[in-house]
Amino acid sequence: MSGGWQLNLDRAVFLDEYWQRKPLLIKNNAEGFTPALDSDHLAGLAMDDEIESRLIEQEGSNWQVHHGPFCAEDFEREHPWTVLVQAVDHYVPAVAELQRLFDFIPRWRMDDVMVSYAVDGGSAGPHYDNYDVFLMQGEGQRLWRIGQHCDSTSPLLPHDEMRILEHFDTSAEYLLDPGDILYVPPGVAHWGIARGECTTFSIGFRAPAISDMITRWTDQLLLQMDVEQFYRDAARTPASLPGELHPTDVRHAVAQLRAALDQTVGNQWFGELVTEPRYDVEIDEDEVAAAQALLRAGARSVALSPAAKLAWQQGEEGLTVFANGESLPCARSALPTLLLLCDRRSLAGDILDKALSDLDTAELLERLLQYGCIYVE
Ligand code: SIN
Ligand code: CO
Repeated sequence: MSGGWQLNLDRAVFLDEYWQRKPLLIKNNAEGFTPALDSDHLAGLAMDDEIESRLIEQEGSNWQVHHGPFCAEDFEREHPWTVLVQAVDHYVPAVAELQRLFDFIPRWRMDDVMVSYAVDGGSAGPHYDNYDVFLMQGEGQRLWRIGQHCDSTSPLLPHDEMRILEHFDTSAEYLLDPGDILYVPPGVAHWGIARGECTTFSIGFRAPAISDMITRWTDQLLLQMDVEQFYRDAARTPASLPGELHPTDVRHAVAQLRAALDQTVGNQWFGELVTEPRYDVEIDEDEVAAAQALLRAGARSVALSPAAKLAWQQGEEGLTVFANGESLPCARSALPTLLLLCDRRSLAGDILDKALSDLDTAELLERLLQYGCIYVE
C-alpha cells in the first residue's frame, strides 16, 4: 500500500449486506498500490525458525503439507506449491498497517495477518474457514473460486492435517489483480489458484467459539456464586415408582440452573477471552522492571507491541482494560491515553508526559508493560 491508494468500499453497505453473509469482490485501483511486503522478504520470514510457516504442494488430488522453517532448496519443487506465513503483522509494520483498512470492525475481532506466496498453479486447496477473511492480492494474479456453504459435516479428503473439501461447487470466479480484495464469510468454500507467481495477504478475523464462551462464563460465575445453594424440590407430588428419575425433576434442575446462570456476572470473561494472544507472550521480569523504571525516569516513547491484543470497556464504575487476556479496572482519566494507544499505537513527547502526569494512567502503562502489551524506548 502507499500514499493515495484507497479501499473502494462503502463500509455501511458492506456491514449491512455482506459481513458474515455473502462474499464480495472489492475491485480497487491498482494505481498507487504497492504490496506491503515483497516475495523475497516473505521467503526470508519463512526461513525464520521463530515464525510459523507451512508449504503446501499439490500433485493431482494428493496434497502435501510441510512445516517451516524452510531453506532455499525447499522452494525448488516439481509440482505447484505455495508457502503460507502466519502473523506477519507481528514482524512487518507495513503489513500490520493493512489492518487499519478494516478499522470499521473492532480490533478485538481481528486475527493476525497471514501472507502467502505461490508459483503458477499453487494453491492452499479448496477449503472453508470458520472465520471472516479479506484476501488482498499483492503481487501477480490469482483466480479465486467461490463454492458452496460448508459446515463440520461437509465431506473432506482423508488427510492428517489439511481440511481439503471433497466436493467443490463453483458458484462464482474472480480474477484478482494487485490491490483487489475478496471478502469471504465463515463457512463459504473458496479456492485460490495462482496465475503465475503471486502473493496474497489474508486479513483474518476471529470469533470465540460458543463452547469457550460457556466455559469462561461459567468459570466467572463459579468464582462469585454461593456454593451453599442446592437443588430444591419443595411441593413435590408423591413418587409412584421410587426408582424413576422423573422428567419433571430434570425440568426443575434445568430451571434452577437457568436461574443460577441468570445471575449477573461481570464482563471480564468476554474481554479476557477475546484478547487472548495467539502465541504465548514471554515475559522477562527483569526486563519489565527495567522498562518500568525507564518509564518513571522519562522514556521517549511507548508503543503497542505488534502482537498486543488490547481492548477497553466503559462501565458505570470506570474503565476495564483487557490486555493480552488479562483484565484490569482502571480510572476514567486513562481513557484519552487508551484511545491514542489503540489508534496511533504509540505515545511520545508531550503526549506521553501528559499521560504520565496522571497517576492512574501511569499505573496503567506500567501494568501494560507487565503484560507485554507495550514497550518503551
Ligand atoms: C492463500 O493465501 O492461498 C490461502 C488463504 C485462504 O484461503 O484463507
Ligand atoms: Co481460506
